[in-house]
Amino acid sequence: MTKNYFIKTYGCQMNIHESEKLAGMLQSLGYTSCDKEEDADVIVFNTCCIRDGAETKIFGNIGALKNLKKKNKNLIIAVCGCMTQQKERVAQIKEKYPYVNIVFGTHNLNEFKEYMQQYLSSHKNVYEVWDQEKAIDEDVEMYRTSGWNAWVNIMYGCNNFCSYCIVPYVRGRERSRNMLDIHKEVEHLVQQGYKIITLLGQNVNSYGNDIDDKNITFANLLKDLCTIPGDFRIKFMSSHPKDLTDEVIDVIATNKKMSKAVHLPVQSGSNAILKAMNRKYTIEHYLELVDKLRHKIPNCRITTDIIVGFPGETEEDFAMTYDLVKKVRYSGVFAFMYSPRKGTVAASMDHQIPQEEKNRRVNKLLALSKQIIKEQAEEFLHTRQEVLVDHKTEQGEFVGILDCGKDVILNGQNYTLGQYQNIMITDKKNNQLYGCAE
Ligand code: 5AD
Ligand code: SF4
Repeated sequence: MTKNYFIKTYGCQMNIHESEKLAGMLQSLGYTSCDKEEDADVIVFNTCCIRDGAETKIFGNIGALKNLKKKNKNLIIAVCGCMTQQKERVAQIKEKYPYVNIVFGTHNLNEFKEYMQQYLSSHKNVYEVWDQEKAIDEDVEMYRTSGWNAWVNIMYGCNNFCSYCIVPYVRGRERSRNMLDIHKEVEHLVQQGYKIITLLGQNVNSYGNDIDDKNITFANLLKDLCTIPGDFRIKFMSSHPKDLTDEVIDVIATNKKMSKAVHLPVQSGSNAILKAMNRKYTIEHYLELVDKLRHKIPNCRITTDIIVGFPGETEEDFAMTYDLVKKVRYSGVFAFMYSPRKGTVAASMDHQIPQEEKNRRVNKLLALSKQIIKEQAEEFLHTRQEVLVDHKTEQGEFVGILDCGKDVILNGQNYTLGQYQNIMITDKKNNQLYGCAE
């Protein structure tokens, strides 16, 4: 009888991709993916700890597994990722959720297969979290699950220590992958038919800074990947404004293979708050980057991350963030309420902002962003665009995705799945765009 696994992923794209690695390991042990926790022989929670809400939700979901374990004594439960890289969380799981069988962190993700084998032979719970990152392991099995898109790690860890952020503590220092290894992986993925290659790193702009060769830079990596033959697009995330170079902007501007959707997290519109966040750029510098992007890449779409309610954020500071969103007219704003993370500098700062105030600010910002996006959707009407023909609806209509990720329902049947296609946007109903082949 086949044995099934179910992986639940919390958090960012890095975690989504790492779940593909966990799936690869489970497949090599003979397990098959299933859609429901109830059908699984192994359940893995790949966790996040970026905000308190993520951790609370995960603990709630771990609690809910108790019943499944009661019904099926052979069920194996594993919890890993950023949350369990913190020692106190492991202690909490050990004490309150003893039916969790395998616990490991971010630095030893690639050892999961060993832990599975260890548990299967001993039936003793495994709690294994490493304090430090080790050298990059290139020999990783993967089971990719993101359609035409393939995630590719180009670096791990972060050296920036933004004062609110826990990532450097749970992901370790920056380590860049070898450029040739990345090239070979992307080449192989394109040959396999992947159409979007999304390069991942906590700050992709500092790719190569830890390698003793001046030619290993993010701009040179992009230039190199663009020489790979095939009709595919390259995206990347996330990008830190302090390190975004003119050279990178030029590569995006001049190369057809580069996606024109740029995610550039600003975090705040106030210089005082940016300083307290240890972001190391000013709003003037950020706006210069936006100007350069818009000037050199006329069709570029900029999205951002913003934190509201950072300690000491006054009404004036927030107004500056609000004005910035109005000015830049982002194509997407991921707005978060500041969540104190133990061990980070900002967690012990004075003047923490009350929850109701954070709520008010985040809602105000999201309403503005929604309005801007609505107006931008109108601007798509009667323009020429390129879509990747992605899938068919249940009614048999083809659906294309724009570079920025928006869906377009396509008129007619003259399309091939997985191909880039020039279209005209002909209509818009509610928030749905419609188009037809040129
Ligand atoms: N509280 C709220 N949001 C945070 N982010 C990172 N740390 C925190 C925190 N402590 C947000 C930032 C980052 C995104 C991935 O998550 O905006 O860019
Ligand atoms: Fe966190 Fe800043 Fe590193 Fe991004 S750059 S992961 S926000 S510390």
